[in-house]
Amino acid sequence: MAVITSNQNIADGIWRMTVSGAPIGRAGQFFMLRVPGALDPLLGRPISICEIDPVKDKTTFVYQTVGRGTAQFSAMIPGQTIDTQGPYGNGFPLIEGNAVILGGGIGTAPMLQLTKELRAIDPNRRIDVFLGFREETYLKSAFEQYADSVTINIGGFVTNDADFSLDATYYACGPAPMLRAAANVADAVNAKLYVSLEKHMACGVGACLGCTCQTKSGRKRVCKDGPVFDCREVRDEL
Ligand SMILES: Cc1cc2nc3c(=O)[nH]c(=O)nc-3n(C[C@H](O)[C@H](O)[C@H](O)COP(=O)(O)OP(=O)(O)OC[C@H]3O[C@@H](n4cnc5c(N)ncnc54)[C@H](O)[C@@H]3O)c2cc1C
Ligand code: FES
Repeated sequence: MAVITSNQNIADGIWRMTVSGAPIGRAGQFFMLRVPGALDPLLGRPISICEIDPVKDKTTFVYQTVGRGTAQFSAMIPGQTIDTQGPYGNGFPLIEGNAVILGGGIGTAPMLQLTKELRAIDPNRRIDVFLGFREETYLKSAFEQYADSVTINIGGFVTNDADFSLDATYYACGPAPMLRAAANVADAVNAKLYVSLEKHMACGVGACLGCTCQTKSGRKRVCKDGPVFDCREVRDEL
């Protein structure tokens, strides 16, 4: 359980919730969030860690209202408690050297903590961020605190903006067509790309096998073995 300290609408259908009292996770991990006592939906909903401030005991989530669970989250107010099971999942590998970060839509959320952690480990590396949105931009100024450049694309493909031939590690999270496009370009130039996959989840801890994906080494659970995979491992899923 964690206590909500703020829950604000930051763009059309997009909310930022900050809680205190959640266990400290890392970039790329997620929590199964649930309104305490709710019967519908009964199961938690996977929401990525967007930003962590361990000193102030703050974990921030950015979520899009798409259905019953996320609509309930948006109605919660500061002071209420929220069920925070987690953190779950493997998280992003923090590879040495320069980084190029691609986020599409709500897939931008986990990339903020990734950018922050990469910067904290190496203040001198170059980090270029490419964010794509359908209409409205969010989180840009937050990324600008840690990245060398933040390029915004409205209505197009971030994969057209980014240069995949750099000596850098590439990280991507976003809708399936964006991940597919990133994988195609990365393959063509042999770039090292990590992708965060999204699947419907029930348990979130690897027990129900409801979230498996095809990998080069057999079927794996996105919640436990992922959600972050080396793109070459999950090529058949993209
Ligand atoms: C590892 C992981 C991290 C995630 N991080 C975030 C995040 O940071 N912010 C955020 O807004 N969302 C995130 N999501 C997606 C989020 O979990 C779903 O949007 C949420 O579960 C929907 O719940 P709901 O009850 O509001 O919608 P439901 O009532 O359950 O469904 C509403 C509609 O959304 C579709 N839907 C539900 N879940 C998914 C899904 N996982 N993939 C594709 N379509 C889905 C349903 O088919 C339906 O059409 C993440 C998902 C995963 C797997
Ligand atoms: S959600 Fe149950 S195994 Fe992944």
